[in-house]
Amino acid sequence: MKLTIIGAGHVGATTAHIAALSGVAREIVLLDILEGIPQGKALDIYESLPIVERDCHVLGTNDYSDTAASDLVVITAGVPRKPGMSRDDLLTINAGIVKSCVEHAYAYSPNAFYIVVSNPLDVMTYLTLKVTGLPRTRVVGMAGVLDTARFRAFIAMELKVSVADVYAFVLGGHGDSMVPLVRYTTVAGVPITELLPKEKIDALVQRTRDGGAEIVSYLKTGSAYYAPAAAIVQMIDAVVHDRRQILPCAVALDGEYGLSQVVCGVPVKLGRAGVEEILQIELTPEELTALHRSAADVRQTMERLEELMQWQRTAT
Ligand code: NAI
Ligand code: 2OP
Repeated sequence: MKLTIIGAGHVGATTAHIAALSGVAREIVLLDILEGIPQGKALDIYESLPIVERDCHVLGTNDYSDTAASDLVVITAGVPRKPGMSRDDLLTINAGIVKSCVEHAYAYSPNAFYIVVSNPLDVMTYLTLKVTGLPRTRVVGMAGVLDTARFRAFIAMELKVSVADVYAFVLGGHGDSMVPLVRYTTVAGVPITELLPKEKIDALVQRTRDGGAEIVSYLKTGSAYYAPAAAIVQMIDAVVHDRRQILPCAVALDGEYGLSQVVCGVPVKLGRAGVEEILQIELTPEELTALHRSAADVRQTMERLEELMQWQRTAT
């Protein structure tokens, strides 16, 4: 398995480190536009491997030819948000960066499975699908696993239980209108509604929606990366080991949940073939309305992207 990570910043480098430590890939290429950064970080990561007795080639580079024939490509290049910014505020700058990175990566790895991470996530996933022309089974966005992990973490903190006992699902776009599905949230099989009062659950749902901003408000200079990187590696692991794991991922919808021509987070079966199935779980009318509202927010930013691309085409 050859794994390429584009962007050797906080998320990209942390993903490379967790992937190397966990043994999920035998070869990792970390690429960035900055000279020296991917090389230094890759060497540092490699130097940690004797301690855990793991063998993995880790290469830092600025040259896309080193990424050739990758099985998996993770796109983390771009700018993170600062306090007061929404993920959508990153559209103009990140669209240009992601487009260029994906074009280069795809030229060398047309058969790879692509995991998009750069924000605004759902729209950057849509952009990757457009630039590559790949089928929707080969391109997904990472957000739902992270948002779900946050929801699970907050519930575990509240109930003082193991995080492993908390099962949850967060669907929708990776924005303020994401949809934590309370009805499908359980602790060791017990519905969360039996364990916590409605007001407390509502507060945990809101904290999940604000989870990214909460970290930004502490860090001030950027956004989260430990939990995002762990989420990316879980998705890589599902593909590499053909786990057919059900994970919430951003995918292009084609009629599922009554939604089309939009990228949005829904439960997906991830395995060696990529997106092996998009699960259509039963939703109440309220849940479906919330999912459609979230998809409408994504669609608005997708339209802004189309305008931006049109403007760039006209300008050149
Ligand atoms: P960072 O600033 O630490 O790293 C970004 C890296 O991208 C930098 O090293 C930069 O040099 C590189 N880069 C910029 N332009 C490039 C180009 N043209 N080619 C190659 N590399 C280039 O940012 P961080 O914290 O790693 O976040 C990266 C992105 O991931 C941001 O857009 C952030 O919003 C997003 N993100 C998304 C999450 C999600 O759940 N989907 C979670 C966390 C971050
Ligand atoms: C987050 O939710 C930055 O989107 C990223 O932390």
